[in-house]
Amino acid sequence: MIPNPKQYNDCNELQRYEAAKLFSIITQVVGPSPKFGIVVDIGCGTGNVTLDFLQLVKCDQLIAFDKSEFMIEFATENNKSSEINYKVADIRDDFQKLKFDLNIVERADLVFSVYCFHWVVDKSKAFHNISQLLKPGGKCFLIFIYWSDLFAYQRQFVLNSKWSEYFENLDEKMSSLAPAYTAVLPDIDHTRKKWTQLLESFGFEKCKITVEEDVHFFKEFNVFMYDFQSVCPFIYYIPTAKRDEFMIDQFNYIRNIYNTGFKDEKDSYEFRYNYCVIQAEKCEH
Ligand SMILES: C[S@@+](CC[C@H](N)C(=O)[O-])C[C@H]1O[C@@H](n2cnc3c(N)ncnc32)[C@H](O)[C@@H]1O
Repeated sequence: MIPNPKQYNDCNELQRYEAAKLFSIITQVVGPSPKFGIVVDIGCGTGNVTLDFLQLVKCDQLIAFDKSEFMIEFATENNKSSEINYKVADIRDDFQKLKFDLNIVERADLVFSVYCFHWVVDKSKAFHNISQLLKPGGKCFLIFIYWSDLFAYQRQFVLNSKWSEYFENLDEKMSSLAPAYTAVLPDIDHTRKKWTQLLESFGFEKCKITVEEDVHFFKEFNVFMYDFQSVCPFIYYIPTAKRDEFMIDQFNYIRNIYNTGFKDEKDSYEFRYNYCVIQAEKCEH
C-alpha cells in the first residue's frame, strides 16, 4: 500500500507523536513500567513506532505485523530488536489465516495499533480477530485518524482538477480503501454507539471510544508532504508514469489553500485533524 518505506520512516513524525499519546494512555491504564508476556502491534509499518513502544513497555515477545511486505522488509532490516518478530499479515483476513501468518501459539496480553485502522473498512472482521488474538482479560488500544479537513481538500482537488477522469465513483472507491476520507466529519455519537456494540458482540467489555481534535505543526511543508505522500490513497488510481506529476499538483493545491502566498520552500504546515482512540478489554469468561 505504501510505496516508499524509507521515506515514510524518515517522515512519520505525526504518527510517532500520536503513538506517544496512545502509549501514555496504556501506561495510565496498566500502571508505570508495565511488563507483558505477548504483545501484538497491528499495521506496524516500518517499525520505528514499535521500537518507541519498547522504550516504555517491557514484554517477552512483540509480534508486529503489516500487510505490506515492503514495510516488513524495511522493518526487519532497520528497526530490529530481540523481542520483535515482524510478520506480513492482514488484520482483515480470516482468523485461521491470520493465526497461521503470525505463527501464533499463545494468546496475547495486549494488542495495540497506531494509525492503521483508518484504512480498515471492515471493523467487524478486525475486532473479531483482535478478540481471538487476546487472552481473557487482555487489553486492546487503537489510535487512528477519524477525519481531517485535509481530506475534504484532497477530495476537492481530485474531483475538480484535470485528474478527475481517474476518480469516477470516488465515494465508493474511498469507502473501500480509506474510510476516513469523507467530505464532512462523520457523526461521532453514532460511530461510538456502533463500534461499542460491535466490540461488545465480540466479547469485549470496558469499551471506551473517544474522538478528539488536535493540530500538528510541521515546521516544513516538505516534511508533511513526504509523510502524507507515502500514505496517499488516491495514488493507486493514477497510472504509474503520471504519479509524480499528480503528487506535485496535489500538494501545490493544498499548499496554496493552507499557505496562500507562501514565499519560500521553508513554509510550515498546520495539520488539523480528529483522532479516535479505542480502548477495550476482552471479557474474562
Ligand atoms: C500510516 S502507516 C502506520 C505505521 C506505523 N504503525 C506507524 O505508526 O508509523 C499504516 C500501516 O498500516 C498498514 N495496514 C493498512 N491496512 C492494513 C491491514 N488490513 N492489515 C495490516 N496492516 C495494514 C499499512 O500497510 C501501513 O504500513
